[in-house]
Formats: sequence, structure tokens, C-alpha cells
Amino acid sequence: MQIVETGSTAVPRERFVMNAWYAAMWGENLAPGAIVPQTIVGEPLAFYRREDGSPVALYDRCPHRFAPLTHGKVLPNDRLQCGYHGLEYAPSGACVHNPFGNGAIPPAAIVRSYPVVEKHRMIWVWPGEGPPDHDAIPDFSVIEAVLPQHVAKLDFIRIAASYRLVVDNLLDPSHTSYLHAGSLGNAEMIATAKNTVEHTDREVVVDWSSTDVPAPNLLSVMLPAHFPRDHVDKWTHIRWTPATNILLETGMCPTGSERTSGTGYYGFHILTPENERSTLYFFTSVRWNPLTDPALDAGIRDTLTTSRRDVFLTQDGPIIEAQQRRIDQAGEALRPALVAIDVGPVRYAKILDTMIANETGANA
Ligand code: FES
Ligand SMILES: [Fe+2]
Repeated sequence: MQIVETGSTAVPRERFVMNAWYAAMWGENLAPGAIVPQTIVGEPLAFYRREDGSPVALYDRCPHRFAPLTHGKVLPNDRLQCGYHGLEYAPSGACVHNPFGNGAIPPAAIVRSYPVVEKHRMIWVWPGEGPPDHDAIPDFSVIEAVLPQHVAKLDFIRIAASYRLVVDNLLDPSHTSYLHAGSLGNAEMIATAKNTVEHTDREVVVDWSSTDVPAPNLLSVMLPAHFPRDHVDKWTHIRWTPATNILLETGMCPTGSERTSGTGYYGFHILTPENERSTLYFFTSVRWNPLTDPALDAGIRDTLTTSRRDVFLTQDGPIIEAQQRRIDQAGEALRPALVAIDVGPVRYAKILDTMIANETGANA
């Protein structure tokens, strides 16, 4: 394979874009009355819901004696009560009740409150100091208005590595033919693969397509009986938007036919750095143009849920974590020997580094 010219960094940088929306959790995982802790870009946050259902995100530390607010409880009128000595906070972060003395509120009794939005079945939080850009929430609307039997479990795993290594993994579909040989990929896909990369200063789009190949085993569960499963055109179209959000479309159609005659799924891969070495990896899939007998769809959904989770947990996760350990072990900047498939990962890294540099005033 050809070597790609690049000016990218030699190793993943461990800084974060702060002025961006990060996925905190799937909305269904924040029950009314619950307080859920989640660490995002190194900041411990406490999430709960107002009585009208809208989410709240507060810094998870009471300013009195610094107990985590996640040890407290949600009270009527949208208040969060610290579990240690009972000070109460409003969604704005202001202390609104002190049960001691004359009840005066100390000026320092205020918690940082974060912009938070529930959209596309996900709770998004903006950790930066800048004004939240509501247009920057990624368009994941394909998850809406679909039948439940076509949506896999809204799932997540945790990977002990920099989020950058996980983005690299997801913008490089070639690894499906090696790491996931026999499930998501096969050798024939490599032999005919075409890889194109397009980008602007706000997104990178990778298209990886193969012609006249056998359908990958894991994906063939979506094919109806009449489909020519040994002769399909197979593609994966991947879109990254800052800072860590990926929506892909993968599909198969009979060789030589239009893509729209085929079937496949949208893959949601939403990454949130907990810190420099831990990444929350939210994922699900939504089938497009289902061609199978509707009576089979719930079973197909459950198979996709189980098998994709298994692939991420037992194949991607372990190799990315092992890769991170080798990088950290080096104790010096390693320069990757880049090949053609690295164009997408190099492109996104440049955009991300520029965004970080613009925030910090450093050189990208
Ligand atoms: S630590 Fe929260 S009220 Fe005392
Ligand atoms: Fe993978």
C-alpha cells in the first residue's frame, strides 16, 4: 500500500475540544427522580430531570464540604438536595435552601450548571465556557420515527483508551476484513475495495466500497432469502462531525444494482471522553429499507444488538486498549507508518487539532 504524506501529530494528543456537545447518556437511562453520575472530559457531572422531564447537569460537588451531589436526592420543584447536610440547589446551580442557622445562603454556595439538551434520544452536554451552539448537535434524526423492531438496543461500552484511537478505528473500515474477519468483513472486500475521503473544516466523510463480494456473515442476517448473498456490492459510508460523533450507513445491494435497491443499517457511534484514557462508547443501529419478512424483524434486531456488542467488546475494545498500552509504554512520540487507509483518520485529527488550538490559543 502507498504511504500517505501527512503532517499530522505522531501520537494522539490528549486534549479535548471543550466547546462541543458530548453525549452523556441515552435519554432512557436517566429515569425521573434519579441522579446519574457521568464524567465528561474530566469533569464529574450529576444529571437529573426537572419535573417537566427536561435534563439538568450540575458539577458533581457540593460547595459546602465537597460531597458528590450524586449522593443526594431530587426534591419537588426541580431541587437537588445534597445527601450530606441537606443544602438544596436549583437547576441553575444556585443554592436555594440552607437548613441551618438563619438560613442565609453563603455567596459561595453555587454549583456550575451546564447547558444540556435531549435530542435524538440522547442527552447532550456542553462542557465549554463558550455559548452553546445548538446547530452543532449532530443530525442523528434517522433514529426517530422508525419502528422499534428496526432499532437495536441503545447500548454502550467503556474503552480504556483515548477517544482518538476509537475515532481512528471508526474512520478506518478496512479493519473489518482483518479484526472482524468472518463477521463484519471478509478478504474479498479488501481485494476490490475503493476508499474515498471528502472533508470540509467541520466534517470528514469516508466511503469504503467493494464490488461483487460475499455478504459479511454478521450483516447477511438482514438479507431476504432471494438475495444473491454471494454477489453483493457492499459499502460503508461514514460521517464524522466534531468532536467525537460518527454516523455511518452500511449496506449491500445485488452486484451492479442501485444502492437504493439494497438494505442495511445506520450505525451510531458516539464517543465521549471520560478522561484522557477512558472513552464512553455509545452505539446502536437502525435498519434502512428492511427487506426481510416483518415477522423476523424483532429477531434480527436482537441478533444485531448482541453480535455488534460482542464485536465491539471482544475485538475492537481489546485491540484499542492494547494499542494504547503500547503507545504509552514507548515514553516518546511515536510516528505512525501511514498507509492509504489512514486518510480519514489523518483528516479528522487535523480538524480536531485546529479546533483545540483555536480554543487554547496554541498552534495546531
Ligand atoms: S457537603 Fe453538601 S451540604 Fe454539606
Ligand atoms: Fe471494528
